[in-house]
Amino acid sequence: MNAKQAAGYKAAEWVQEGMLVGLGTGSTAYYVIERIGQRVAEGLKIQAIATSKASEELAEKYRIPLIKAADVSKLDLAIDGADEVDPALALIKGGGGALLREKLVAINSDKFIVIADPGKLVPHLGAFKLPIEIVPFCYEWTLVQLKSRYDIEFQMRTRDGGLYMTDNGNYIVDASFGVIKDPGTLDAELKQLTGVVDHGLFVNIADVVVIGHEDGTTEMIEKP
Ligand code: 5RP
Repeated sequence: MNAKQAAGYKAAEWVQEGMLVGLGTGSTAYYVIERIGQRVAEGLKIQAIATSKASEELAEKYRIPLIKAADVSKLDLAIDGADEVDPALALIKGGGGALLREKLVAINSDKFIVIADPGKLVPHLGAFKLPIEIVPFCYEWTLVQLKSRYDIEFQMRTRDGGLYMTDNGNYIVDASFGVIKDPGTLDAELKQLTGVVDHGLFVNIADVVVIGHEDGTTEMIEKP
């Protein structure tokens, strides 16, 4: 067992019969989906919404019943990884490019559980580049707007020699803030920019973080 698996398997214990569950994206969320899949094979009855095409495919592989958002008004629980977690449980997410679906699912769940290895815990957010999802139309102008407001490096995310495209058909720009002193203010500022769809700051959304360790043990950090 490794740290990510320990965190994922522990968080999967929260899932109870009949629940509607949000499935995260990434190498830690992989283990939640795997463990929930094992429990479904043992007879657990749940329904889920996946936060990316990759997680949807994984859920299908494990025969976890998937529903559409239109079928339900909210979820009982969402479980997802993070790129950084600060002491107030504010997060940077979106390293895997799924931040928009992840945020939509997290804020529409009664409980949002974050799973991580100890390396994700930081005193301040911002060493990890903040992913910002922007619409492709005139994205160069959105980039100009961002650069005029923040004197930092912005990099368009690429893949296979072209611009990276999210599952929603948008682009991602990664922003090197270094230290984000006030995540709440930056969250609100970025949301106001036309052309920005959303960003990877998750402020006041996480309820609990499950940290997995290499020896298979876990610890829980509750929202302060
Ligand atoms: C994907 C995410 C992931 O949760 C985040 O990047 C952490 O991934 P991993 O568990 O692979 O380290 O936000 O958009």
